[in-house]
Amino acid sequence: SKVYLNGEWLKPEAAKISVFDRGFLFGDGIYEVIPFYCGKLFLLKEHLERLRYSLKEVELKCDISDFEALILKAIDLAELNKDDGAIYIQVSRGMAPRTHYFPESYDATVLMYAYKTNLRGFQDQFKDVVVSNDLRWHRCDIKSVSLMANILANTEAKKGGFAENIMIRDGFFTEGSHSSLFFVKNDTVYTHPNGKFILPGITRNLLIKLCKDNDIEIVEKGLPVSALDEVTEVFITGTTTQITAIKNLHFPDKIVHFGDEIGKVTKRLQQLFSEEVK
Ligand code: PDD
Repeated sequence: SKVYLNGEWLKPEAAKISVFDRGFLFGDGIYEVIPFYCGKLFLLKEHLERLRYSLKEVELKCDISDFEALILKAIDLAELNKDDGAIYIQVSRGMAPRTHYFPESYDATVLMYAYKTNLRGFQDQFKDVVVSNDLRWHRCDIKSVSLMANILANTEAKKGGFAENIMIRDGFFTEGSHSSLFFVKNDTVYTHPNGKFILPGITRNLLIKLCKDNDIEIVEKGLPVSALDEVTEVFITGTTTQITAIKNLHFPDKIVHFGDEIGKVTKRLQQLFSEEVK
């Protein structure tokens, strides 16, 4: 398998980045993860649009007009044309003497590769998650590679045997360390509105559309932790998560249980989603 680095297709062990790369020194870079099902890219345009948005918001200059062709080539070279997997893309602000302000001119470092991953079987999973404080910055809408808060919280979750951590900021649920978050209350689906406190998840956006197209009430409003008593279903979504139902929500002092079977709204949305990707 080959990785793409700055115009070349290389064996992973031959792909090298400078110690002065700003992605390495500062986490000065952005990324995308794009899924493909049976070799077919899913919501590619939406992912590339978000990539463009992230680049723009951090003023990272990089021409991505050839990315679609490179993505297709990555799948080809990895011989994954019939498999499920994902594309990882990272763009950093290149190599420069270390200063906090960014250099006037630089060549962005572009890394890209395709990898195989399991995107099936999500409908059979019913998982436990743990709550954590949302310690992230106030620009969670940018898909930045600076992920310290996410990785610290998710490592705690992993140590406790949990599938994901879901975060609380100022008394409201925001999202997971690498997934979007939904609640069902009185047959209405709730999810935190887009803005500076969550990533505009591509799977999340599809879910909202599926709700609207299928007469499922959807409200883009943050759920306060105090309203959890009325919640009957919880699920998380994402490129690598699809739609995963949550069975128990673990707090430091209590466990909130959401039934012994996956709820009906979650099941319906999983069914609608699986029709999109088949
Ligand atoms: N994570 N929220 C956060 C903080 C994320 O990092 C992700 C994706 C999502 C879901 O977004 P999408 O539906 O566009 O994948 C929500 C990727 C997969 C990752 O970091 O690996």
